[in-house]
Amino acid sequence: MPRQFFVGGNFKMNGVGESLTNIVNNLNSAELDPNTEVVVAPPTLYLQLVRQAANEKIGVSAQNVFDKPNGAFTGEVSVEQLKDLNIKWTLIGHSERRVILKEDDNFVARKTKSAIDGGLSVILCIGESLEEREANQTIDVVTRQLRAVAQSITKEQWSKVVIAYEPIWAIGTGKVATTEQAQEVHAAIREWLKTDISPEVAENTRIIYGGSVSEKNCRDLAKEADVDGFLVGGASLKPAFVEIVNSRV
Ligand code: G3P
Repeated sequence: MPRQFFVGGNFKMNGVGESLTNIVNNLNSAELDPNTEVVVAPPTLYLQLVRQAANEKIGVSAQNVFDKPNGAFTGEVSVEQLKDLNIKWTLIGHSERRVILKEDDNFVARKTKSAIDGGLSVILCIGESLEEREANQTIDVVTRQLRAVAQSITKEQWSKVVIAYEPIWAIGTGKVATTEQAQEVHAAIREWLKTDISPEVAENTRIIYGGSVSEKNCRDLAKEADVDGFLVGGASLKPAFVEIVNSRV
């Protein structure tokens, strides 16, 4: 069965009630490709507002979740609390949390397990730095990040994971990966899934690209065999996000 195209919008730490409501109203009224799964990730404070404002064709995701079920973890959010708001997705392992907040592979893996065990689906973010790419370590880095998660979840639980390959050097820079660069890494990730997890998981797991995706570059990227969608940052806050959702129409 073909993998359903997936476009996520990571709003990051942007927006307030009025502006986020406007974004959601624009998406509600837009003609979106029915064959594309659309999930938006607002700031935590606005998850309930966005979930209640968005219609049923729009999924809503947290940008992060903690690995413990509850307790003395100031500022954190639990799986149970997300489910209480009818949130079915969460990003985990975004490079901004790995780099700025020093989240390591094992913490990302624990959070991924907790999220899936608790009934959420996960957009698992991986990707290399410019230094790592220039040192030809890209595949080593992304497979290391995936291996940590593979040691924490079952083979069956990969069905709850969308992998987002986001080269750090492309995030927020305008320097989008070329179609060749994206396809090369996505194919390597799929090959790793095939050999280290299973051929079925490799075939069924969506591998999406993130890093300066725009309405100008999304169509060419979407044509690549192993690009199953996008995780969009800056452009997800703009009307152009609809064009990215419809990049295969
Ligand atoms: O999670 C998506 C994000 O990291 C990409 O950001 O602004 O380069 O599309 P941007």
